[in-house]
Amino acid sequence: MGIGSKATIETFEKWVIPNYRRYPVALVRGEGSRVEDADGRSYLDMFPGWGCNILGYSPPHLVQAIQDQAARLIHVPNTWYIEQQGRFAEFLCSRSFGKAFFCNSGAEANEAAIKLARLHGGGSGRYRIITFENGFHGRTFGALTATAQPKYHEGLGPLMAGFRYARMNDLDGVRQLIDDETAAIMIEPIQGEGGVRIPAPGFLQSLRQLCDEHGLLLIFDEVQTGMGRTGTWFGYQQTGVQPDVLTLAKGLAGGVACGAMICRDELAADLRPGMHASTFGGNSLAMAAGLAVGETIEREGILEHVSSLAEYVRDELASWQAELPIINEIRVCGMMIGIELTIPSTPAVGMCMERGVLINATNDTVIRLLPALNVTREDLDEALRVVRQVLAEMANEI
Ligand SMILES: Cc1ncc(COP(=O)(O)O)c(C=O)c1O
Repeated sequence: MGIGSKATIETFEKWVIPNYRRYPVALVRGEGSRVEDADGRSYLDMFPGWGCNILGYSPPHLVQAIQDQAARLIHVPNTWYIEQQGRFAEFLCSRSFGKAFFCNSGAEANEAAIKLARLHGGGSGRYRIITFENGFHGRTFGALTATAQPKYHEGLGPLMAGFRYARMNDLDGVRQLIDDETAAIMIEPIQGEGGVRIPAPGFLQSLRQLCDEHGLLLIFDEVQTGMGRTGTWFGYQQTGVQPDVLTLAKGLAGGVACGAMICRDELAADLRPGMHASTFGGNSLAMAAGLAVGETIEREGILEHVSSLAEYVRDELASWQAELPIINEIRVCGMMIGIELTIPSTPAVGMCMERGVLINATNDTVIRLLPALNVTREDLDEALRVVRQVLAEMANEI
């Protein structure tokens, strides 16, 4: 038994910097899509690990791989060749393209992409990167500046030079921002934190064309959409658009800290020795975990499972709309689910939690669910029943 949520909260109040808003609960163990708190209460988690626990809590093959690897070798620096790193790079790149660089988080993956864009454009004086309003790329200074949401910038200026912000789906706006100093366009193929926003049909293709016309790199931030989340290995594979650079993290190693940047073969040499590094990046433990996640997704046919569940969820949520006019729009791509309301979505989180279901609210009015990719239909149904009930209560209160 642990020490209980109350004692953990007291320890935090004394010793931990309060930079997060936390629910007053300590989660201590989990299995599949269920997680238990320190006081023995069980929850059905439709947002496990903020989308990192892509195979749910403690999936056996991942646990075994971590245990085996930890017993042999946890970490060696990148001054040595690391067998698991090579194998995981092969796994990822043979399902996408190019070559991989490993780090530990989404922000770091995006920093690597920003550096690569500048190094690539450096010879011709190109350094500017165009990103999109409502996007989210992380909290380190480069990634933060790339994040075109003023609320995350407050009090932190001056930010990094060299970013310009465009509006999603506004191609003319993007075109006007391009000049001789522009190096790249960076976008999430589906904005996650921005509210599960899917670009209008053709927009990503048009960005690709613009990049080709002007010699810019197209960077897709797939930190949230990657690793099977959308029903294909990577979100771009459903868009018909091939980016030059891909950034990954979150579910990459099933909850073990891991990030990656993948770039076209011809660009790889731009990140030459000495220009970028990460002490923990690509360590044996994270790489073994990533391989176990990838192999499990493939062996258990999880991509197909995600696609068929997505169909089901889309139909199910569409059937709610007639009855619940507070639902403005439903956006589903694989196990990335956004329910946009006409009213603030935050109250739904607490109301669902009281009923034992964990969800997320983002971008003021959007309910976001990122269930484990192997969530069962039964667990999903149970959670959706609760969400529907909560939305009905919220509608009645208006
Ligand atoms: C699309 C996207 N990019 C980058 C990040 C930052 O990732 P991290 O928190 O691992 O730095 C996130 C995190 O939510 C994200 O959703």
